[in-house]
Amino acid sequence: MSLMRIDRFISERSEYTRNEIKNLVSRKLITADGIVIKKSDMKVNPDTVKVIVNGNEIRNQKYRYIILNKPDGYISSTSENDGISVMRLLPESLRTKDMFPVGRLDKDSLGLLLITNDGELAHRILAPNRHVSKIYIVKLAQSFKSEYINLFKNGLELADGYQCMPAVVSGSELSEKLAFIELHEGKYHQVKRMFSAVGNHVEVLMRISVGGLILPETLGFGEHMELLHKNVESLFSEPDFNLLCSKFSGKFSAKLINNRS
Ligand code: URA
Repeated sequence: MSLMRIDRFISERSEYTRNEIKNLVSRKLITADGIVIKKSDMKVNPDTVKVIVNGNEIRNQKYRYIILNKPDGYISSTSENDGISVMRLLPESLRTKDMFPVGRLDKDSLGLLLITNDGELAHRILAPNRHVSKIYIVKLAQSFKSEYINLFKNGLELADGYQCMPAVVSGSELSEKLAFIELHEGKYHQVKRMFSAVGNHVEVLMRISVGGLILPETLGFGEHMELLHKNVESLFSEPDFNLLCSKFSGKFSAKLINNRS
């Protein structure tokens, strides 16, 4: 059994800084297993301890995994240098300093964004050699053309000369301007640049899956849900592209066209 300092235990699982914890200790506002803590360097067993700070229990789970349905207008970053962070959409209890979005969706893009404090998992998802699948639904300015299917499959060349990996695209039966695309890489503005390369333009883009993790239909824009670690492992399974397309064609497509925020 390895023990840890209670101030470290709390700061890793909440927004409290070590100084704030010290102050709360001096005001007798922290208990561990029902006993008032007198010193912030007291050791606890992180596997079993129940810590209450100012009346609220500190969740004893080191890693947290949140699915956010990102709305338009938020940036996928913890810093706010270029706009309002997606982190603002989470309640304070989930906005701890170690949480960050995994990968980027553009400011005007919508859909599935994973937010976690598990750096190792983020690295596994983003590692270029893993080629984790990402599926998007897009609303195009011009109608989808069946010739795109082979062009994307053979690997498009973008305007800057970048040679894309093969990608799968398919039109939607709901509207000739809706399409689905599956990528196994994630370059800057990639989906938008791929459709530009075939003379089209992406007006709205929504990510609906990352690996085997699929955006729940019940999650409205700006809403989030917490995942359990065991569900996170599904990230590394391959989704069925055709099944997802048919599943998302109706309800989500309508949402995409009519209600972006
Ligand atoms: N490709 C884009 O062009 N934008 C995104 O946000 C994601 C993929």
